[in-house]
Amino acid sequence: MELQGARVWVVGATGVLGGALARGMAAAGARVALAGRDRQRLAALAEELGGVPTQPVDAVDVESGRAALAAAVQALGGLDVVVVASGVVAFGPAADADDAVVEELFAVNTLGPMSLVRAALPRLADGGAVVLLSAIVADAPTLQMAEYSASKAALSAWASVLRRELRSRKVAVLDVKPPHVDTGLVDRALAGTPPRLPAGYDQRALVDTVLDGVRRGSREVVLDPGAGTLVLR
Ligand SMILES: NC(=O)c1ccc[n+]([C@@H]2O[C@H](COP(=O)([O-])OP(=O)(O)OC[C@H]3O[C@@H](n4cnc5c(N)ncnc54)[C@H](OP(=O)(O)O)[C@@H]3O)[C@@H](O)[C@H]2O)c1
Repeated sequence: MELQGARVWVVGATGVLGGALARGMAAAGARVALAGRDRQRLAALAEELGGVPTQPVDAVDVESGRAALAAAVQALGGLDVVVVASGVVAFGPAADADDAVVEELFAVNTLGPMSLVRAALPRLADGGAVVLLSAIVADAPTLQMAEYSASKAALSAWASVLRRELRSRKVAVLDVKPPHVDTGLVDRALAGTPPRLPAGYDQRALVDTVLDGVRRGSREVVLDPGAGTLVLR
C-alpha cells in the first residue's frame, strides 16, 4: 500500500519503537494519530510531528482503547493502518514468576493488542494493514523470559490466523519480530533483571524494514540469522 496520505494510528507511540515508527510513517507522508499511556511524551511527540491528534490509552483498560480509536478515526477521517507497539517485559525463572506480573504481561502484550485490533477492524479500510510488534522470542522462546516469550508467541499465533481470515478484505497483517534493540525496554521490566543480551539491532533499519513491509503487504519481519539483518517474508 501507498504510505503517502495513508491514515495511520500508532498505539504505544510514547515508546521508543512506537515513536520511531510514528516518525517514520509521518516522514513517508502518512497522516498519523498517536495513542500512548504517558501524556507528556504523547504531547511532546505530537508537537514534534506538527500537532497530530493524540489520545491516552492504557492497554489494560479496554474502554480507553475504544475511545482513543474513535478519536483517531474521527481526526483522520478514516483508517488505513493500525500499529500497536505497546509492550512490557519481565525476567526470571518460569517457576518463580509472580501471578500479577504474568497477568500484566499478557494484558499489555497479548490481550490489549488483540482487543485494540478487533475494535479497529470494522473501521479499517479494505486493503489496509495491521502492524503488530511481537518479538524474536515468539519463535525462539528464551531462558529467563518464559512469560514474555509466551505472551509474544500467543500474539503471533493470533496474528497468523487473523491474516488468513482477513485475506478477502486484502488487509495485511504484519507481525514484526525484532531481536533485541537498545530502547531501554529491559530496564523498565516489570520484574527481574535481564540476562546477557546481544548487541542491539539498528533502530533505523528496523523502522525502514517495517515501512517497507507495510508498502509490500508482507506477513512478517524476521531476523535472517545468517545475514544478521531483518528481512521481510
Ligand atoms: N526493544 C526491544 O529489544 C524489543 C525487541 C522485540 C520486541 N519488542 C517489542 O516492541 C514493542 C515496543 O518496545 P520498545 O522497545 O519501544 O519499549 P518501550 O520504549 O518501553 O515502549 C513500550 C510502550 O508500551 C507502552 N505500555 C507499557 N505498558 C502499557 C500499558 N499498560 N498500557 C498502554 N501502554 C503501555 C508504553 O507506554 P508509556 O511509555 O506511555 O507508558 C510504551 O509506549 C514492545 O511490544 C516490545 O515487546 C521490543
